Amino acid sequence: MTPAVTLIFRKTDGAEIAVSAVPGQSVMEAAVMSAVPGIEGECGGCLSCATCHVFAPEGLTSPTDDNEDAMLDATEAPRGPNSRLSCQIVVGPEMDGQVFLIPGHT
Ligand code: FES
Repeated sequence: MTPAVTLIFRKTDGAEIAVSAVPGQSVMEAAVMSAVPGIEGECGGCLSCATCHVFAPEGLTSPTDDNEDAMLDATEAPRGPNSRLSCQIVVGPEMDGQVFLIPGHT
């Protein structure tokens, strides 16, 4: 069995929420399963809602493809240089301890 990793979600007030994630699931799935505020994942990860917007850590800041890139222009909080849709980020073992910022949520 693949060991779980811990992802950190940081709110704009600096408060952090540590979430256990399994490699192979998406960052959005891990956040939603742990009820992280500000990450809704309304469409279930099919790239049609942009309610899973995060500011991603270094190394994870490039959109997966043109579809994600286009949807990032429809996020509620303004897009930043490290904006990603967390449903398009697959958790890997190397992501243990990575910090994701939740845009516009305190
Ligand atoms: S969950 Fe809807 S676009 Fe990511």
